[in-house]
Parts: sequence; structure tokens; C-alpha cells
Amino acid sequence: MEGKPASLYARLGGYDAIAAVVDDLLPRLRSDELLSRFWTSPRSVDTHNRERQLAVDFIAAAAGGPTIYLGRDMKMSHKGMGITKADYEAFMRCLAATLDTFKSARARAQRSHGLYHRLGTRNSGGIAFL
Ligand code: HEM
Repeated sequence: MEGKPASLYARLGGYDAIAAVVDDLLPRLRSDELLSRFWTSPRSVDTHNRERQLAVDFIAAAAGGPTIYLGRDMKMSHKGMGITKADYEAFMRCLAATLDTFKSARARAQRSHGLYHRLGTRNSGGIAFL
């Protein structure tokens, strides 16, 4: 709508961009040396899929998207797991690695389209996490 600033959801690139980031991030968290202990017991494929869907919905809804998050709140979901400051830092390292991956992919795409000079501008398209 004219004059109305785009929602964070739109600026992030919408549902597919958020889903792509979650799909890159979750395997990193699950295989991280420190964090893997949170995903040790055998889990069904559907449990993994449900966790992935909830993460996408949570981020999309929090960013103002048209999705409805049906999961538990963050405190209830994580209370009792014993998540430490070091775990949180490991989470942030995984997230940074994910965002770096998308940054490189976007730069490659833009170079190939001759749009390299527009990198970092708002209307350059692609995933705007970066
Ligand atoms: C070191 C930090 C974190 C760890 C180790 C962690 C771990 C986990 C685990 C193991 C679950 C599954 C819980 C279960 O099956 O009962 C879970 C659920 C979830 N986490 Fe995290 N998490 C972390 C941080 C975050 C952050 C920062 C977000 C938000 C961006 C997030 C969003 C969620 C969501 C949406 C769920 C699903 C809630 C539900 O089942 O209803 N987590 N987390």
C-alpha cells in the first residue's frame, strides 16, 4: 500500500526466504558440537518436520507475516532444557554461518545479473536478512 512502510516479513523476502533460512539453520544446530545434545533421542521424521514448520511460522508471524503460529511460547518450549549462555552463543554462530551462506548466494546471483553495484540496497531483491 502506498505510503505504508513494508512489513519486516516483506523486507525479509516473505515465506520462502524465511523457510530457506530455517532449512539451512536447523541442520547446523542439530549437528553442532555443543548443541547436538538437545536432539539426541531418536525422533520421528514428523517430529523434525513439525519443529521446522513451527520455526518458520514463529519467525514469519513475529515479523508481521500472514501466518499463524500454533506452537508453544518460547519460555514454555525451552524451560528445563538447561540452555546456557554458551549454547546461546553457539546458536548465534550457527545463525551467522547461515546468513553468510545466503549473503554469498545473493552476491553471486547479483553479480551474474550485473546488479552487483546494487548490493545492500533495499530494492535489490533476494533475501533481505543481510
Ligand atoms: C540455544 C538455543 C536454542 C536451543 C538449544 C533450542 C532447542 C529447541 C528444542 C530441542 C526444541 C524442541 C522442544 C520439544 O520438542 O519439546 C525447540 C523448540 C522450539 N524452538 Fe528452540 N532452541 C533454541 C533457541 C530458539 C530460538 C532463538 C527460537 C526463535 C527464533 C526458537 C524457536 C523454537 C520454536 C518455535 C520451537 C517449537 C515450540 C513448540 O514445540 O511448540 N528456539 N527448541
